[in-house]
Amino acid sequence: MKNPKRYLVTSALPYTNGPQHLGHLAGAYLPADIFVRYLRLMGRDVLYVCGSDEHGAAITIQAKKEGITPRDIIDKYHKLHEETFQKMGISFDIYHRTSDPLHHKTAQDFFTKLLERGDQFDEKVSEQYYDADFDQFLADRYISGECPRCGHAEAFGDQCENCGSDLSPTELVNPKSTLSGKTPILRETKHWFFKLDKHEEWLKEWIKDGSVDGAVHHNAKDWKKHVVGQCLSWLDNGLHARSITRDLSWGIKVPLKEADGKVLYVWFDAPIGYISATKQWCLDNGKPEDEWKKYWQDEDSELIHFIGKDNIVFHCIVFPAMLKAHGDFLLPKNVPANQFLNFEGQKFSKSRGWGIQQFEYLEAFKDFPNKEDAMRYALIRNMPENRDADFKWDDFVDFHDNELANNLGNFVNRVVVLTNKYYEGKVPTPTTDGWKAPMATALELVKKIQAAIESYSFKNAIQHLMELSSFGNTYLQDISPWKLWKENPDANEITECMFVSNQIVCLLSTCAHPFIPFTGDKIRTLLNQDVVKNGDLATVISQLEAGEPLIAGGHKIGEPSLLFAKINDKKDTSRLAMIEAQKTKLSNIVASEETKSFEAVKAETSFDDFTKMDIRTGTILAAEKIPKANKLLKIEVDLGFEKRTVVSGIAKHFKPEEIIGKKVLVLANLAPRELRGVESQGMILMAENEKGELSFVSPPDEFGNGFTVR
Ligand code: 2FM
Ligand code: ZN
Repeated sequence: MKNPKRYLVTSALPYTNGPQHLGHLAGAYLPADIFVRYLRLMGRDVLYVCGSDEHGAAITIQAKKEGITPRDIIDKYHKLHEETFQKMGISFDIYHRTSDPLHHKTAQDFFTKLLERGDQFDEKVSEQYYDADFDQFLADRYISGECPRCGHAEAFGDQCENCGSDLSPTELVNPKSTLSGKTPILRETKHWFFKLDKHEEWLKEWIKDGSVDGAVHHNAKDWKKHVVGQCLSWLDNGLHARSITRDLSWGIKVPLKEADGKVLYVWFDAPIGYISATKQWCLDNGKPEDEWKKYWQDEDSELIHFIGKDNIVFHCIVFPAMLKAHGDFLLPKNVPANQFLNFEGQKFSKSRGWGIQQFEYLEAFKDFPNKEDAMRYALIRNMPENRDADFKWDDFVDFHDNELANNLGNFVNRVVVLTNKYYEGKVPTPTTDGWKAPMATALELVKKIQAAIESYSFKNAIQHLMELSSFGNTYLQDISPWKLWKENPDANEITECMFVSNQIVCLLSTCAHPFIPFTGDKIRTLLNQDVVKNGDLATVISQLEAGEPLIAGGHKIGEPSLLFAKINDKKDTSRLAMIEAQKTKLSNIVASEETKSFEAVKAETSFDDFTKMDIRTGTILAAEKIPKANKLLKIEVDLGFEKRTVVSGIAKHFKPEEIIGKKVLVLANLAPRELRGVESQGMILMAENEKGELSFVSPPDEFGNGFTVR
């Protein structure tokens, strides 16, 4: 397949109303960084853009709470995001911000263009809540009141955080303005609605078949199943016009005289931020003014958005529709969204202190050698690529000690030590061609890494990297030059082995770069070589294909120095203490939270009765709400041997699109029963805690469907 001329890669613009946790890093930034670092290593033209998302009601509300201005907030978090990303090695070509005047103009021009098209917007006057004391219309988040569904006293105008229902402000019982605390009044206001419904048909074709107006745009099979599933679930529910203006003072002014006091909705301006960032990069790099168009409009370019699953609809439906409505823009070639990362079995929660922010990790582990790569490795190794994943400190320790230290670190160290010991640090030159065979095997492993990265399977890719290191270790161990040395230090077998081992170390330094770039650079220093540069992997591959060495015999390498200091180290317990401190923090949270009241254990049952239940492993394929039944979801489950429809009373806890792909346990021999006209052919097992929160009981991702639970 032909490579495109250039790539434009984006990561979701983070909000600037708080710090980012590890889940954000694993979701939208690390995968993009691996991808772009790899493309650069292959000598491809790639531009990686991101920046801060600095508008929206949440920022104003927070500023109000803290008694400071929105500008104070965005400046603080923009700086924190930029510094933290840089420390973690996220290699943006530009990290822009949406408060920049260039972005304001770009977003306003985009709005004007759609308005001039004449058929993209509806103008509608409607009644909205208004705070007379503050003389302003209230954004949905500025209104709180009682949830009409669950009675929760502090639901917001757009959503109840207790039961998860989507709400509109006028549904709230006893609404109050969060500004004055008074009851708001209804007043007429005009807004601009983007007619998303007009785009439904072509979007369906594009998402389902990868074609637009009959022409193939991408292979639909290349898109992740959960991304397509979520989009189709939206499209099947029908698209509706969406208001893209708000009555707010913080944001991008709607560029119309009659729209005084109104700004563009934050989700209208934010994705346009990718375009502004590209423009700014061109300006910063002395490119011609129109150069940005090559990335956004030239058919030979590919646009790829890296995001978390909560942003799928905006990147796969709303923004593409905006781009098509505008005209002249490319559509994304792929949106390899990740699912969510949980933390020690629970959702990250800022208010509970559950989880760890990226900057907190860097501070708490400041004396931990190679802390950036240790975390990058753990997050990639357990990336939520197709399913939600769970970060655990014990896994972090295992990955670090067993894989980074014992496998990669150990191999590199042995090679550097032995080369220094036997050859005064000079790579020996073998006298025969025997070294070529193991290098051909190594090349096969490199190709596996490449294939995995190119198909966005970063978790597999990093395992292939470790296979390459294991291959080096096994090769060295099989020959054991230290044994042969005693008999005949001049044996060609030793020379060849040390020559090959140095080649593999060099290859590892290049291949490690996309994943653990700090380590890649350190290995280069150990080898006394320049750090990797663009095009190096392409060069290395052609050298190996041509049977040429990567490091010439006679090259003087550097002195040994440890790449990874094991955490489980009896002599130095400082690193284990850092992990223990994190675990203690979590157990303190658990202990300080209300003591739980457990249900009484039910009456005894017999083993025979238990075995009558046929519980099977399965995967949710599709889910939708059942009309007029606000508790029920109709769910299609794959049980391996057949597919079943199950009606489940979980609609208040989960949105249909977020459970697609979930692993579940199903009571498969429950007598079918009809619920709201749908036959339910089984029951999905759920756990419920003392707060009434539900959790799926899920076997691990790699567990197949249809297997029995006993
Ligand atoms: O979810 C978020 O953090 C949003 N700020 C992402 C915006 S992505 C893009 F559209 F800018
Ligand atoms: Zn509620």
